[in-house]
Amino acid sequence: MFGRRACTVVERTTYGPYVVVDVHDPDGPAPAPGQFYMLAAVERWGGGDGERPFLPRAFSVLRAREGRLSFLFDDVGPGTNRLMDLDREDELWLTGPLGEGWRPTDRRPILIGGGVGIAPLVALADTLDAPEVLLGFRDAHHAQAAALVTQGSDPSVTTDDGSAGHHGLVTELLPDDLSGVELFACGPPAMLEAIRRLGVPAQLALESGMACGFGACFGCVTPLAEGGYARVCVDGPVFAAAELAEVPAH
Ligand SMILES: Cc1cc2nc3c(=O)[nH]c(=O)nc-3n(C[C@H](O)[C@H](O)[C@H](O)COP(=O)(O)OP(=O)(O)OC[C@H]3O[C@@H](n4cnc5c(N)ncnc54)[C@H](O)[C@@H]3O)c2cc1C
Ligand code: FES
Repeated sequence: MFGRRACTVVERTTYGPYVVVDVHDPDGPAPAPGQFYMLAAVERWGGGDGERPFLPRAFSVLRAREGRLSFLFDDVGPGTNRLMDLDREDELWLTGPLGEGWRPTDRRPILIGGGVGIAPLVALADTLDAPEVLLGFRDAHHAQAAALVTQGSDPSVTTDDGSAGHHGLVTELLPDDLSGVELFACGPPAMLEAIRRLGVPAQLALESGMACGFGACFGCVTPLAEGGYARVCVDGPVFAAAELAEVPAH
């Protein structure tokens, strides 16, 4: 069942400043890595005194196992703040899985993520055999989320302030020779644009403000290299880097 359904929270875990919420979704289709869901708390989702209800918010699936879905939340505003507050037995509205996820490749994959953008890469890493994973965070506190990558991978970490791992940008960890490699990336627009400009095979998972999540509102468009626009929610969120005119700053 693809439509909106209420799912029960079965676990809540913290990783530094991030929260992972697991829900039980026994009847939903299994998501592909890189797909996303539109989420809304069943209780207290705006609409209090003097408030209007919030729209659902878009979130990548972090992990999917045996009817259980995990989501990773970063507290950037009222919606994420409320979702991070969910605990066992609370209910969550979800719609999905939505969009086009990562495409398979015959090339050597390198996964590269920044901040909360690691979420769809964790889902991808779960399907690969010990892939190379490079993760960038603000500081050691945020870098605790690197522990989410399992499957035999030991991610290389960078931090902006040098408090964990390499001091610098995550793109500095890329090998000089990228022949035979395909990059799989999600993170801040500046990171994705730097990867797009490398001109090597790459898949980029974009973010965009999304009002509907399924192609109806055209609020999420991104410019294409050949002219025109694509809707991030139905044509993406994962795009081949060569398809894109640029990765727009939010
Ligand atoms: C496909 C997709 C997957 C995503 N996956 C995750 C995820 O796994 N974990 C996670 O924490 N977040 C994820 N996001 C981002 C998440 O949807 C936004 O952070 C959330 O909607 C913000 O809602 P809010 O009410 O907390 O903040 P708001 O008050 O709505 O926004 C707070 C600030 O963030 C900016 N913002 C809001 N939404 C977006 C957006 N979609 N892209 C860029 N800037 C935005 C606003 O302009 C504002 O400055 C994803 C977004 C997309 C489109
Ligand atoms: S979010 Fe409505 S068309 Fe993409």
